Amino acid sequence: MSDEALENLLAEDRTFPPPAEFAAAANLSDPSVYERARRDPEGFWAAEADTLHWFKAWDRVLDWELPFAQWFVGAETNMSYNCLDRHVNSGGGDKVAYHWEGEPGDTRTITYAQLLEDVCRCANALRELGVGTGDRVAIYMPMIPETVVTMLACARIGAPHTLVFAGFSADALADRMHDSGAKLLVTADGQNRRGQQVSLKPNADAAFASATECNYMLVVRRTGQDIAWNDEVDFWWHDVVDRQEPQCPPVRLDSEHMLYLLYTSGTTAKPKGIKHTTGGYMVGVAATHRWVFDIKDDDVYWCAADVGWVTGHSYIVYGPLCNHTTGVMYEGTPDFPDKDRWWSIVERYGVTILYCAPTAIRTFMKWGDTYPGAHDLSSLRLLGSVGEPINPEAWIWYRDVIGSGRTPVVDTWWQTETGAIMVSPLPGLTTTKPGSATYALPGIDADVVDDEGRSVPDGSGGYLVLRSPWPAMLRGIYGDDERYAETYWRRFPGMYFAGDGAKKDDDGYLWVLGRVDDVMNVSGHRISTTEVESALVSHDAVAEAAVVGRDDETTGQAIAAFVVLRAGVVGDDALLAELRDHVASVIGPIAKPKSIVFTEDLPKTRSGKIMRRLLRDISENRKLGDVTTLANADIVNEIADRASAAAPED
Ligand code: PRX
Repeated sequence: MSDEALENLLAEDRTFPPPAEFAAAANLSDPSVYERARRDPEGFWAAEADTLHWFKAWDRVLDWELPFAQWFVGAETNMSYNCLDRHVNSGGGDKVAYHWEGEPGDTRTITYAQLLEDVCRCANALRELGVGTGDRVAIYMPMIPETVVTMLACARIGAPHTLVFAGFSADALADRMHDSGAKLLVTADGQNRRGQQVSLKPNADAAFASATECNYMLVVRRTGQDIAWNDEVDFWWHDVVDRQEPQCPPVRLDSEHMLYLLYTSGTTAKPKGIKHTTGGYMVGVAATHRWVFDIKDDDVYWCAADVGWVTGHSYIVYGPLCNHTTGVMYEGTPDFPDKDRWWSIVERYGVTILYCAPTAIRTFMKWGDTYPGAHDLSSLRLLGSVGEPINPEAWIWYRDVIGSGRTPVVDTWWQTETGAIMVSPLPGLTTTKPGSATYALPGIDADVVDDEGRSVPDGSGGYLVLRSPWPAMLRGIYGDDERYAETYWRRFPGMYFAGDGAKKDDDGYLWVLGRVDDVMNVSGHRISTTEVESALVSHDAVAEAAVVGRDDETTGQAIAAFVVLRAGVVGDDALLAELRDHVASVIGPIAKPKSIVFTEDLPKTRSGKIMRRLLRDISENRKLGDVTTLANADIVNEIADRASAAAPED
């Protein structure tokens, strides 16, 4: 039995130093920033906070009574003021805040001055509908400008918002509305997805019916489709918001005033309402956005996440607007009207920075190089990835095909709970390695520890922890302090446990290996699913792979792989044998999958994470678990059929 917490198997020796020209112009180009932050973290964060506006200065930077932190204690500020008024007051009102594009091709260009007026109107409307400072507002909306307007309007009057991703069911919405005690629900008639009008209002109606604290619904007309209407509780956005005054003074809020709740979609237990507050979160997202994406005044920045996830909160809305950035927002799917939609957007708006998820990158890789190849992507200067470990081959493809082999790639590790990016290259400073998120950012104290909480040496694996509080950290789980302490702070006393496995390579680079519950145990070796998946994806025939450990009489667990092939490749027995040998040669015979099933797609959550739990159920012939959070439910049955037809290899 190995005594390592996690085996360190996959070796990657390709390195990419920052291009000289990029480094020379980068926002962070002096490596002493790390040391400065280490010597005096509070002073370091206070200097970042000084770049933002505070109505009243803080008395203390940090109060830390583990596990409860308060940042910029005693200060007063307002997030929407920092995102909007600050720039408009200093003459930056004409700059474009968002180039927005609807799926059918309609567009809107929104300047900072216009956005401020829209936000003020919406804030006044929220008040008219009975929302006061401290009341929660639920938002169940498509990727349209009104969603951002509502978030900022909530922030303006200090009404915490809780966004529920528009792909979630009525039940999921009802749970979150109930848990947060939302007083108002903001929604739309529907949204455009892959050329269809998908309705939202019926789900909103069903959730509203069971959410007793909620008084009204404010409804944006997006698609114009027929919807049920109740005059007593439903209000059209264009009736209520458009007639309001375009001024609304921002409320001076305590630094620790709740900005929002965002529920993490637990696959088994009740979702956790992750609580973020105002001042520290603002400092965290503004600073990390400026450092990691090297934001310059003339950048056109596109974070292609959905605004319903934390990535959208921190890096479509709050971070970019604090930094007076011009952003792109797109309503629809990447394959409408064809599989080159994203690349057409990059070309037309001259996008310079693109930030998206590995699942999207692997999908584009599967579709092939012709789609990006048909467009001029030369405006791109930086690429980012978030949400899952990015397989080295997908990283290389992203850099080569999307970034023409010249752009730095930043693989950013963080969570809903961390609020802001924690581990990431600094594009002007860090020599990257494909698949590694590299190092903790300045001011962030990340480490990898063993079962006893001891820091592991370079070259070993273990659990990813954060050793010190940080400004954007969650302040708790809404209404459940005990669950907060238990989930994040008890496993390793004094440290925040992220729930992820990680390793440090021989150079001290961090490699995030996925959720610890995804770790397999083969003959006493703990093997990360990520490493075997990356080995599979490093084969030319493979676009995407998921592996799970299934019970095995001999080895404890055996590795079962599910593989999506690249366009045009035929999955036959010869390829099957070749892939198994390939993994054996890349990682070692211990990691050779016992069975491989070829499939068209993998079961994924709505945020694009592979649901290995369901693949485990399939591999062990169990009745399938909960599939309600699945984006593509049909694929599970299809994979199950194929898996039962495929005999395991020895
Ligand atoms: O397992 C890690 C994975 O996503 C989890 C956090 O998910 P969520 O709260 O939905 O936030 C996603 C967007 C920040 C983490 O615990 N994860 C996120 N980024 C990476 C990652 N795994 C590896 N590498 C990353 N860059």
